[in-house]
Amino acid sequence: MKLAIGNDHTAVELKNVIVSHLEERGIEVLDVGTNSTQSFDYPISGYRVGKLVASGDVDGGVLICGTGVGISLAANKVPGVRACVCSEPYTAALSKRHNDANIIAFGARVVGDEMAKLIVDSWIDATYEGGRHQRRVDMLTEIQDTGSLSAAE
Ligand code: RB5
Repeated sequence: MKLAIGNDHTAVELKNVIVSHLEERGIEVLDVGTNSTQSFDYPISGYRVGKLVASGDVDGGVLICGTGVGISLAANKVPGVRACVCSEPYTAALSKRHNDANIIAFGARVVGDEMAKLIVDSWIDATYEGGRHQRRVDMLTEIQDTGSLSAAE
C-alpha cells in the first residue's frame, strides 16, 4: 500500500508522527506537505494529495491541518476525491465502509498523537462495503460530474 500525506504549518509534528506510524506498518508514504512551521496555505497540500489519489498514483491520502476542515475541503474540489474529516475512529471506519472515503483528514489542533493513529488505522483497516452504499456514492459522483442530481429533481 502507498499513501500520500500532506499538511500545513500547524501539523508538521503530527505529520511526522503519522509518517513514522505508517512506515512501521509497512506502508509506503509519499510526503507532499510542508516541513516548515512558517505559514503554509493548506489548499496546496490538499490539492497535491487529492491529485495523487484521484490519478491512482497512490492508494489513498492523509491530510492534516489545524482542524482538518480546510485541507479536506481543498482535496474535495479535485474530481474523484472523497475526503472525510474525522475526530474519532468510528467515523473514520464508517467513512471507508459506507462512503468509500479515499482520503482521511483530521486536525492537529483537535486530536492528539494517539487518537490520530487510531483514526488512521481505523480508516486503513476498514473495507468499503458497496451494496446499497454504491448507489449513494454514485450520486456523489453525479453531482461532481454534472452539477446536478437526477434523483433530487
Ligand atoms: C491555520 O491557521 C488554520 O486555519 C488551518 O490549519 C486549518 O485549520 C484550516 O481549516
